[in-house]
Amino acid sequence: MNCNKNKNRLYHILEGMKGASLQRVSSKLSAAIVALICATIVIWAWEKTPDMSSLFPPLEQIGILYPGTSRLAPAGENSSVVNSTGSSSSKEIKHVSSLPSIDSSTACSKYVISDELKETPFGDEDCNYAKGKWVADTRRPFYSGSACKQWLSPMWACRLMQRTDFFYEDYRWQPQSCEMPEFSRNSFFKKMQNKTIAFVGDSLGRQQFQSLMCMVSGGEMSPEVEDVGKDYGLVKAPGALRPDGWAYRFPCTNTTILYYWSSSLCELEPLNKSDPATHYAMHLDRPVTFLKQHLPRFDVLVLNTGHHWNRDKFRGNRWEMYAGGVPVIDGKLVDLVNAKNFTLYSIVRWVDSQIMQHPKLKAFLRTMSPRHFVNGDWNTGGSCDNTVPLSNGSEVLQDGSSDHVAEAATKGTRVKLLDITALSKLRDEGHISKYTLRKKASQGIHDCLHWCLPGIPDSWNEILHAQI
Ligand SMILES: *[C@@H]1O[C@H](CO)[C@@H](O)[C@H](O)[C@H]1NC(C)=O
Ligand SMILES: *[C@@H]1O[C@H](CO)[C@@H](O)[C@H](O)[C@H]1NC(C)=O
Ligand SMILES: *[C@@H]1O[C@H](CO)[C@@H](O)[C@H](O)[C@H]1NC(C)=O
Ligand SMILES: *[C@@H]1O[C@H](CO)[C@@H](O)[C@H](O)[C@H]1NC(C)=O
Ligand SMILES: *[C@@H]1O[C@H](CO)[C@@H](O)[C@H](O)[C@H]1NC(C)=O
Ligand SMILES: *[C@@H]1O[C@H](CO)[C@@H](O)[C@H](O)[C@H]1NC(C)=O
Ligand SMILES: *[C@@H]1O[C@H](CO)[C@@H](O)[C@H](O)[C@H]1NC(C)=O
Repeated sequence: MNCNKNKNRLYHILEGMKGASLQRVSSKLSAAIVALICATIVIWAWEKTPDMSSLFPPLEQIGILYPGTSRLAPAGENSSVVNSTGSSSSKEIKHVSSLPSIDSSTACSKYVISDELKETPFGDEDCNYAKGKWVADTRRPFYSGSACKQWLSPMWACRLMQRTDFFYEDYRWQPQSCEMPEFSRNSFFKKMQNKTIAFVGDSLGRQQFQSLMCMVSGGEMSPEVEDVGKDYGLVKAPGALRPDGWAYRFPCTNTTILYYWSSSLCELEPLNKSDPATHYAMHLDRPVTFLKQHLPRFDVLVLNTGHHWNRDKFRGNRWEMYAGGVPVIDGKLVDLVNAKNFTLYSIVRWVDSQIMQHPKLKAFLRTMSPRHFVNGDWNTGGSCDNTVPLSNGSEVLQDGSSDHVAEAATKGTRVKLLDITALSKLRDEGHISKYTLRKKASQGIHDCLHWCLPGIPDSWNEILHAQI
């Protein structure tokens, strides 16, 4: 079997499925099954479009699509691996850090905003949270990767995979020049009473969203949480396989956490509405429609984009760049590096102008999440096999961001940089790597882009929490 050829084939099939009806796709499915035998991970391809789960229904339907109705057995049994090094990493979560004891008799008792928390120090406005070091901390992680079934996609739950080293879960990010306010469910909800936090971006943004959902619930089942997706138009379109995002409201504090899938942050306009295979005008200087519609309802906004700015994804998504309402056919913007920079500038400036009208809004541009493929790229055998944390150092000493484009785009605006690039760069052992939910690790594509959860994105949320 020619795996490479089939891999490409699967890639194109998956790309072609966005927005397609199941019937139209079914004839392609048999070809895809052949490809599946070779390319077992395809997480990379997953990332291309949120609509591909038909090929992998069991993965996406557990938990995230049907929160509260998970049929999985209570987890944890298989996570304990005896490791001769005796590290605490070999066992599942020790305790959920810094959460007061919970009286489960009433759903809201665990969200009580105690007087004591009124004194919780808020983050230091001037602190550079991106400069500092990773330190071992037995109070990490914040939640169990096998228990947080309500919010965590199994495809990112490394505790459910063949992986046996979990050292990467046990570190905390410590800024050099200030204290990181301790994250707890209660401190988060205290800040977010009657408020809405929105993540808008690609699959890395979705990871941060799922991470936050697990952090604020401690990974426990939270049946009181309401699915309010329909309030934001986040419903499955006819024939679609999942909605474009999710929104959940914690009724005890009236806090909403939502995620909207937009891998470029640009408005996408079908060029021929009656053609199911239409190409899209990708308006580099116009924010995605969802943002224009709902931004006034947000109190905290976290944007990200970055890994979709390459020719493969443009082709696959049938995106055609537009600027000023006309197609980009020549000039600087033809180069995707410049196009991405132009988009970040445009969207940051638009959000900045919105903050004038909605001064309560705290908006962040999250910097690029680093990839760690070595000896090849994602589709040419690249891997990330290191399991020893911080083998390449534990400190970030530089003052500026490693993501120069995002840093420059936010300069002089009220949009803050959520700078996670350099600190995440030190954590090559925290990716999904070769592991899968199947019995055997993948022989095919490794995922050195997405992170295991719990894991590195939890620290992004701690840094975010410090600044809201
Ligand atoms: C634990 O592992 C065994 C053997 O691999 C398997 O049969 C069982 O289903 C697993 N249990 C859970 C909860 O994952
Ligand atoms: C324990 O961890 C060490 C260091 O990561 C690893 O080399 C070893 O294979 C592990 N042992 C088991 C039994 O998993
Ligand atoms: C919840 O918060 C929103 C503002 O985010 C507010 O408009 C609404 O009245 C609140 N609802 C309740 C029941 O407190
Ligand atoms: C939240 O909204 C409710 C209803 O509008 C109000 O009674 C309450 O004081 C608000 N709480 C905060 C912290 O704003
Ligand atoms: C739009 O798509 C439809 C259906 O594929 C096709 O019949 C029509 O000619 C297209 N219109 C234009 C202007 O290309
Ligand atoms: C990014 O775009 C801005 C605004 O268009 C421009 O001023 C800047 O020079 C660009 N930066 C790069 C590195 O191209
Ligand atoms: C380790 O650091 C060196 C020097 O900064 C860099 O060249 C190398 O790519 C890093 N390795 C990993 C795995 O990040």
